[in-house]
Amino acid sequence: MPHIGLDIGSYSVKACQMKEKGGKYAVVNFGVADISEELTDGMDPAQKDILVFDAIKRVFADNNIKGTSLSLSVSGDQVIVRYIKLPFMTREELKSTIRIDGEQYIPFNINECVLDFSMLGEIVEEGQKKIEVLLVAVKEEVVNHYIALVKSLGFDITAIDVDCFALQNAYEAVYGVNPEEVVALLNIGAKYSNINIIEGGVTMYSRDIPIGGSLLTKDIARELACTFPEAEKIKKEIGGIIIESEETKLTRIPSKDDKKIRIYGAMVPTINKLITEVRRAFDFYESSSKKKSITKIVLSGGSAKLKNIDKFISERMKLTVELFDAFKEVEREDPRIESKLQETRLYAPVSLGLSLRRPK
Ligand SMILES: Nc1ncnc2c1ncn2[C@@H]1O[C@H](COP(=O)(O)OP(=O)(O)OP(=O)(O)O)[C@@H](O)[C@H]1O
Ligand SMILES: [Mg+2]
Repeated sequence: MPHIGLDIGSYSVKACQMKEKGGKYAVVNFGVADISEELTDGMDPAQKDILVFDAIKRVFADNNIKGTSLSLSVSGDQVIVRYIKLPFMTREELKSTIRIDGEQYIPFNINECVLDFSMLGEIVEEGQKKIEVLLVAVKEEVVNHYIALVKSLGFDITAIDVDCFALQNAYEAVYGVNPEEVVALLNIGAKYSNINIIEGGVTMYSRDIPIGGSLLTKDIARELACTFPEAEKIKKEIGGIIIESEETKLTRIPSKDDKKIRIYGAMVPTINKLITEVRRAFDFYESSSKKKSITKIVLSGGSAKLKNIDKFISERMKLTVELFDAFKEVEREDPRIESKLQETRLYAPVSLGLSLRRPK
């Protein structure tokens, strides 16, 4: 049974199963299940667990996903990713000293964390040879909680990853590694937007920005004085960025479009905040790298489905923005799933990346 990638977000659960076929990948199945109509943030943890548990069962049952082993990921404030510089040492040396060297960068007790790192390169600073390292820390209790949840469903967990790295894994599996390219992956979810800047196959910067689709829904609910679930529905049905050519066309049919313009106006400040954070990440990367600049942005996540968000980001950032075509050039085990994949593909990258973290 092929390995499963399970992405448990704050809004939806995604499950992806891939198969290797003659050196290429084929998608066995992929599906999404929403956790709740209401905002899960701030919910009682036990109640939220029940909803998550139910969504996991649903995503497997509705999409006929069967298996025994899976990989999952964690993100957001549960994960600390830090870019650090240390005196030169080998990977092996770093492995044994990371708990000591990393301590000052982690806001939790390091002994209660699971750590991982990636070596980014070597530099010379003030005449000293140093290494640049990306340090990742997750609280052990968080990891254990997820393990217990999934084990109770009868699965074996073979790997726990972070969203940003699963995203990179998916990008490289689908698009390959181009050494000339610096790509910014931006996965806009409900609570977080994961950003990952990769240069020739190496993550150079990564962060989870606490801005996502739930804030947009809140903006709409406030503007239209409606409930969160109502605003969610409106956002999906008529929400979107109005680009100039459409704006002029729209003003001719006032009533319905008035609402569209109001919704758009309510969401813009939040989207601008997100863009400011993305720009900050780019500035950080560009000032610390060897003067390479970002080639393009690849968008994914449920909120990448917001109408024209790609065009808006492209215009503001003056960069090419593409939508992450997760199942591009990938065979389908069953051609009948095609329309479902087209509909849901933007949700897929994190779980797809996880599904490829098969047991060794
Ligand atoms: N058609 C659409 N237009 C606008 N937004 C949409 C659309 N479809 C889904 N969304 C939004 O996508 C978000 C869910 O995306 P996703 O499933 O990637 O988040 P998540 O992984 O559960 O959350 P996170 O990782 O941030 O905890 C929600 O905010 C939802 O409103
Ligand atoms: Mg997510």
